[in-house]
Amino acid sequence: MAKKVMIMDTILRDAHQSHAATRMRTEQMIPVLEQLDEVGYYSLEGWGGATFDSCMRFLNEDPWERLRTLRKYLKKTPIQMLLRGQNLLGYRNYADDLVDKVVEKSIENGIGVVRVFDALNDPRNIEASMKAIKKYGANGKCVCEAAISYTTSPVHTLDYFVKLAKTYESMGADNICIKDMANLLLPFDAYQLVSALKKELNAETKIHLHTHNTTGTGDMVNLMAIQAGVDIVDTALSPLANGTSQPATEPLVATLKGTEFDTGIDLEKLIPIAAHFKKVAADLEKEGSLNPKVRQVDVNTLIYQVPGGMLSNLMNQLKKAGKEEKLPEVLAEVPNVRRDCGYPPLVTPSSQIVGTQAVMNVVMGERYKMVTKETRDLFAGKYGQLPMPINEEVAGKILKDEKRITYRPADDLEPEYEKLKAEVIAKGYYTQEEDVLSYASFPEVAENFFKWRKAKNDGVDGDLAKTGVYPV
Ligand code: CO
Repeated sequence: MAKKVMIMDTILRDAHQSHAATRMRTEQMIPVLEQLDEVGYYSLEGWGGATFDSCMRFLNEDPWERLRTLRKYLKKTPIQMLLRGQNLLGYRNYADDLVDKVVEKSIENGIGVVRVFDALNDPRNIEASMKAIKKYGANGKCVCEAAISYTTSPVHTLDYFVKLAKTYESMGADNICIKDMANLLLPFDAYQLVSALKKELNAETKIHLHTHNTTGTGDMVNLMAIQAGVDIVDTALSPLANGTSQPATEPLVATLKGTEFDTGIDLEKLIPIAAHFKKVAADLEKEGSLNPKVRQVDVNTLIYQVPGGMLSNLMNQLKKAGKEEKLPEVLAEVPNVRRDCGYPPLVTPSSQIVGTQAVMNVVMGERYKMVTKETRDLFAGKYGQLPMPINEEVAGKILKDEKRITYRPADDLEPEYEKLKAEVIAKGYYTQEEDVLSYASFPEVAENFFKWRKAKNDGVDGDLAKTGVYPV
């Protein structure tokens, strides 16, 4: 059975987010956008994740303007974005009216595939986003891709993931993504997981795999998933591929050429585009945004079963406390804390919460003698439902009579769009509805950017305006 594999290239988003702190500018993309559009990718990831924050904070760019520019040049290839469920493009829970507006405006400005996920895999946290994607993306305008945060633990079994995928499918997902942000997924497990999903989900539901090459298994993960029938895999053009980024596009295209999985992509077309990004990568390295170390293989995750970023956080915290020798004890404590709080996936923000608590438990010499506010909120259900029941003995000790939440966390939030809009207008920065969404996501960062933009439009030096010297 011939099965063409499709590719999403992450060169315009995750690749430079992973390698260069999301610092690629729109002007560094424009020269090759038309060529990228001719490749025949399933989609090009170009928006969401950290691009929104980085555009305004570091690059003096309106993220919405970037999206419109991408859309202008990418006439055939869908632009894909990453959305953090109820956290949208920021780091807190937003009210449903704001979720609706962000999705509406994203699709209106040119997004063709939205990948939405929740760090805890709580379906209630992506429900409002999915509803909006279905509403504004109807009639083939936008694909709704629900992503599973992949992790390993005694409860994250094949059955668990299949059940979750079925839930997302029943909520209206067109695609199911396996999102392996820490490269924890091993090649043979990928084969099993994709096989199970292909067997249990509807035939028209596409399976999309997202991994990284941090631990050096990425290409093998993709190849095994392809043999199991995965529909779409994520890769990055070689100049910003591998290490903490995705496996490279060109070797996979060459590997599959002439086989039943042929991507249909012409390698020749990729060469000039890659040559362009090689120069961009060199420029990013020169300005200090890209440290060549990110390209190396880091086998720590394979040994310690915690994501690379989490391990370096643990080591930094122990270093600060002058207890570096306690690392083995902390690594042994991580699974205990994780079990106590119902086995959250080890991804942002739960990886930091669990890690910090494990360090505290070891350094204090007594478990849960001290807890952070985040640990308390996690136990209280404020991030959402945990995969398994929490340890009630620990919960009783740390929560005391604090309110516990068993409903959807966002149910507590009042509509906020109109209030935020009034604020942006009152401050004199309103130029478009999208400004309200930028302001909602990162109030201070957006205000600084608006200041810069206003100054520039007034013919004043924008960088000066950002320092506050410009009279406002
Ligand atoms: Co990623």
